[in-house]
Amino acid sequence: MSPSAVVTVVPARRILGRLRVPGDKSVSHRYALLAALAEGRSTLTNFAPGADCRSTLACLRRLGVDISEEADGPITVLGRGIGRLSSPSGTLDAGNSGTTMRLLAGIVAGHPFSSRLVGDRSLSGRPMRRVIEPLERMGARIEATDGHAPLLVHGARLQGIVHRPKVPSAQVKSAVLFAGLHAAGTTTVVEPAGTRDHTERALLAFGGSVAVDGLAVTVAGGQRLVGRDLSVPGDFSSAAFWLVAAAALPGSRVEIAGVGLNPTRHALLDVLKRFGAKVVVEVDAQVSTPDDGEPQGTITVEHQDVRPVVIGPGEVPGLIDELPAIAALGAHGGHVTVSGAAELRVKESDRIAALVAGFRALGVNADERPDGFVIGGRAPHASGGLTGHGAAVADARGDHRMAMAFAIAALAADAPSTIEGADAVVISYPGFFETLGRLTS
Ligand code: S3P
Repeated sequence: MSPSAVVTVVPARRILGRLRVPGDKSVSHRYALLAALAEGRSTLTNFAPGADCRSTLACLRRLGVDISEEADGPITVLGRGIGRLSSPSGTLDAGNSGTTMRLLAGIVAGHPFSSRLVGDRSLSGRPMRRVIEPLERMGARIEATDGHAPLLVHGARLQGIVHRPKVPSAQVKSAVLFAGLHAAGTTTVVEPAGTRDHTERALLAFGGSVAVDGLAVTVAGGQRLVGRDLSVPGDFSSAAFWLVAAAALPGSRVEIAGVGLNPTRHALLDVLKRFGAKVVVEVDAQVSTPDDGEPQGTITVEHQDVRPVVIGPGEVPGLIDELPAIAALGAHGGHVTVSGAAELRVKESDRIAALVAGFRALGVNADERPDGFVIGGRAPHASGGLTGHGAAVADARGDHRMAMAFAIAALAADAPSTIEGADAVVISYPGFFETLGRLTS
């Protein structure tokens, strides 16, 4: 069932249950893209069901990749080999997905044809110079409007480079490394701070080689990838909303099995411990070999205590997508201070502005900072549901993680709250609101 655009969230006393979450979005994009560049067949189980990864599959089909799907089953990709995609049969539409546009730009930049990459309104407002600049330095030519999509990528024979991005970004790292697979010589990305390493792990899983030396990651051109059967772990960033809710609501306990435990993604667990929750992690032994994919396991979170949480710049890359969920702790009697997170302003929405506006609308104190926010305590004169003075309305601004953060915050209200733009959850978690209804009481 597709979610409604406007959803009413009723207050809850607690959240209880065991569940699995949909396949990881970041890992699914990479597995699909690398399966297309591999030789032979790949079977991908638990592939992310959200619209973002559908965009990646649709673009790959336009580039001549044969992809078949079974309902609720694995997807099968017939790989074409590095540099062997076909000239696109039409525009490549990345929809709302920054990962699709940036990673695909890296791949088509190394092909002898031109590709037009477009996105929705949100994606067309997001910065693309961060991939245009290194890809042009490697030899491609990219037409854009003021550094934004649509992108017209004129592929070329690429030359390896050393790239030092100014902001930590796994998307930029991955775009340049994917271009590097198509380039002469070696390509190195030296990050200003470590970001999620799914690309590095996925390259190894598909039989490729990649060298990691501290913050420097290097790939060589001219390598071959081979098709593989892989299972995508549950998405930690989707699990985050339930983990936060369990930490926040007294009497709560949530157990999530089969969830990704990549160390570059799970900094939220430490934040929840600092907040006062009991957090238990069990790694599944059979899938924990780091060079053969992604560790996964079971996470259990129980409510225990409510303490203020402060998050500084050093922690931000490890929980960039969890910051909206973390903000919801501030609606449940907590107090959350975040700095060094200006990148939030160029996500699917300006997440600093959207979070602050949404939490205020819900009756929670919220202050905007150039590079973060302070959220916590009930606003003295708010008319929102948290104060019980009437129905509050928060606008998700078309951003999936805003819709889910507001829903978790609204569980603390005295009256039902309304979330507008709630259908944005289709991007990463189509069944979010059904699961919310099932777990809360
Ligand atoms: C992603 C990287 C992050 C993250 C995004 C997914 C990825 O973006 O916010 O949701 O899959 O590489 P940046 O790399 O731009 O920080």
